Amino acid sequence: MAQSTSAEKAPAGKNTVTLIDNGTGRSWDLPILEGTEGPRVIDVRRLYADTGFFTYDPSYGATASCDSNITFIDGEAGVLRHAGYSIEDLAEHSDYMEVCYLLLHGELPNQAQRREFEKAITYHTMLHEQMMNFYRGFRRDSHPMAIMVGMVGAMSAFYHDSTDISDPYQRMVASHRLIAKMPTIAAMAYKYSIGQPFIYPRNDLSFAANFLHMTFAVPCEDFNIRPALARAMDRIFILHADHEQNASTSTVRIAGSSGANPFACIAAGIASLWGPAHGGANEAVLQMLQEIGSKERIPEFIERAKNKDDPFRLMGFGHRVYKHYDPRAAVLRKSCYEVLDDLGKRDEPLLGLAMELERIALEDDYFVEKKLFPNVDFYSGIILQAMGFPTTMFTVLFALARTVGWVAQWKEMVEDPHHKISRPRQLYTGYAKREFVPMDQRG
Ligand code: CMC
Repeated sequence: MAQSTSAEKAPAGKNTVTLIDNGTGRSWDLPILEGTEGPRVIDVRRLYADTGFFTYDPSYGATASCDSNITFIDGEAGVLRHAGYSIEDLAEHSDYMEVCYLLLHGELPNQAQRREFEKAITYHTMLHEQMMNFYRGFRRDSHPMAIMVGMVGAMSAFYHDSTDISDPYQRMVASHRLIAKMPTIAAMAYKYSIGQPFIYPRNDLSFAANFLHMTFAVPCEDFNIRPALARAMDRIFILHADHEQNASTSTVRIAGSSGANPFACIAAGIASLWGPAHGGANEAVLQMLQEIGSKERIPEFIERAKNKDDPFRLMGFGHRVYKHYDPRAAVLRKSCYEVLDDLGKRDEPLLGLAMELERIALEDDYFVEKKLFPNVDFYSGIILQAMGFPTTMFTVLFALARTVGWVAQWKEMVEDPHHKISRPRQLYTGYAKREFVPMDQRG
């Protein structure tokens, strides 16, 4: 055990907690840090050096991995804010471009800043023409997330002039490129999967409308974007823009902590988002609703979700942080009605099924006791399907929207003068040292 005693010597007071080793009777005072809001944090950075102990928190349920001024979540109260602005206000009064600016700069833009930012983004919407060849190397039935991971990683090979992370200008250009090109990459992945020609971006359209255009337009006829759908798309992008230190964002930060270039880091984030416990859940929600099929079968699936011997979980329910209705789900629930009304699909059976499932689950003791509420993915799938997206594109849209959050968090980390490579420790449970056994003596 290390013998340094600086923490032992730190004065005890209301800004410290005392750690006592009951075995030896030794004690150490550890500093408490306070953020603007949220739980206080015990500073254990010097714990090993001072006490010889590590902390044990395998899935980081009680560990603050960084400090950040981008996003605040109060999971108990169902609160989500970006730089102080509530997600409800942003979804109602703002748009995705403004939210991108807010996440990157910490303030809402004034008119001139907004114009300049939008110009910077639209300037980068096209993809290097040579990158188009990559799509043709993928099997036609590839999952678009597989294509997305590959294409975004490949950006490192094409945009060398924005991979020097020590140069603030290059960091900014890389950020703009990633936000701008993601819709183009996503729409092209979709077009490739259905055998339609790629549609180039149109910079006269809003970010969301341009994405719908690249996804659904064909060269042989006019494509009219329904304003209600463009607005709903934009709102979905806002709701998914950032969510502090979730699995994919932490992945981006860890990848970036080694000094890796931003394109490689965002590709790592996309890979992490793909899993069904994270971004892949919206695809899984729709598959689950289709499998349930009718309201009569809901109780059967609720029972399965409660059965510890059955791996089935109610997709779109529960959250590591929210122990309350996910505020994003509440906004999307409303959006869902607006979209279905606009499309004349209010009687969509899946919506009725989802509402009934939600009603029954929210009254069930198991879900009540465990504080399992609908999360952002519960309603997004229904909206996206009504808009015409296949389920395989759902997580792609999440990745597209989350790119700004990943980029903002990556930038914040790189710009922190104290940042170091991330290197968690472990509780080793394997064999202790033993002698090498030659082959002829092995059983
Ligand atoms: N259905 C049934 N039981 C559940 C569910 C669910 N959807 N979610 C959690 N539980 C139970 C779980 O079995 C555990 O029970 P027990 O205490 O008896 O072992 C308890 O609730 C706590 O669950 P946990 O797995 O320890 O909680 P977690 O924080 O590790 O997991 C989660 C959070 C989101 C992975 C989980 O709730 C889940 O798998 N939900 C379904 C997938 C989903 O909708 N994911 C989208 C998350 S929101 C989008 C995003 O941010 O990426």
